[in-house]
Amino acid sequence: MNVLQRWPEPVVRVQSLSESGIEAIPDCYVKPIMDRPSVDVEESNEVNIPVIDLSGLNSDDAALRKATLELISDACREWGFFQVVNHGVSHQLMAETQKVWREFFHLTVEEKQKYANSPETYEGYGSRVGVVKGARLDWSDYFFLNYLPVSSRDENKWPSQPSTCRELVAKYNEEVLKLCGKLMKVLSINLGLQEDYLENAVGGDQIGASLRVNFYPTCPQPDLALGLSPHSDPGTLTILLPDDHVSGLQVRKNDGWVTIKPIPNAFTVNLGDQLQVLSNGNYKSIEHRVLVNSLKERVSLAFFYNPRGDMVIEPANQLIMKDDPTQYQPMTFDEYRIFIRTKGLHGKSQVESLKSFG
Ligand code: OGA
Ligand code: NI
Repeated sequence: MNVLQRWPEPVVRVQSLSESGIEAIPDCYVKPIMDRPSVDVEESNEVNIPVIDLSGLNSDDAALRKATLELISDACREWGFFQVVNHGVSHQLMAETQKVWREFFHLTVEEKQKYANSPETYEGYGSRVGVVKGARLDWSDYFFLNYLPVSSRDENKWPSQPSTCRELVAKYNEEVLKLCGKLMKVLSINLGLQEDYLENAVGGDQIGASLRVNFYPTCPQPDLALGLSPHSDPGTLTILLPDDHVSGLQVRKNDGWVTIKPIPNAFTVNLGDQLQVLSNGNYKSIEHRVLVNSLKERVSLAFFYNPRGDMVIEPANQLIMKDDPTQYQPMTFDEYRIFIRTKGLHGKSQVESLKSFG
């Protein structure tokens, strides 16, 4: 793992660049013409991903429960992305956690530098993903922290300022984790598996979880850059708390990009690569990217629900069709993750490379 120990170039904080008032962004943030956000955004702007009211899952009305399961099933098959409301997480907690992270990013550079991360674990304050020298970079900074397994959790590596940060993060993660558990059951049922199949397949009470807080500073040339390059999330499920006021997340749909319009107090849920493998491709992890803008910074919280690192992930036996020639090769999540942590974000190339024929 030697290659992962150091960043290949001096780290530049995107927020500092943004605040310096530059009018032209450095070349390393300028995307090749093909990858720049373009007019195709306009035409798909009217669509939104499905919004699902999860209170239906607890209803006494069996027909409503069934209808809610079906809405989730359709969203998983057609989009791989959906928003959820009445999800059980306190709205106040969501707002306070978002606010405390915004405040964190507005602390002095010196304070944030105390948490500067390295590619060995990614934990802490970072400004790039991948260690390829000379790579095109994204217009964002982030804070990454481990939550599960408990052995990987070190609250001393979480920000001590603002003073309520650690406490809020612990509470927030606990609540969002419960939502993940609920969704894993729903997805198992929808795939025709035992209710606890997926959760056990990713490690049961030993699963991994982490929080990545993204900070997208304003960008003087938003049409040349991306806040996050196209990628699919490597793990199982992602629960994203987007910025209430500023949109930016786009989902790939039929060769175009659809901009998600966040509903207040909703979470955006998306399926990761491991669910594509476990479901034997019945569900797909969908590519997404983030646009930046010249007027408003954006803060988002991405909670990643991941397999236990040494768990071999492979398609559920029940979902393998007799004559189906396509298979995903079994791989542990630790092995899988090295790719993204080395090369950075590259669409869906990795999960596709797991497919073997024969
Ligand atoms: C991510 C991600 C989207 C966003 O962190 O993996 O896709 O809106 N974030 O910040
Ligand atoms: Ni993502």
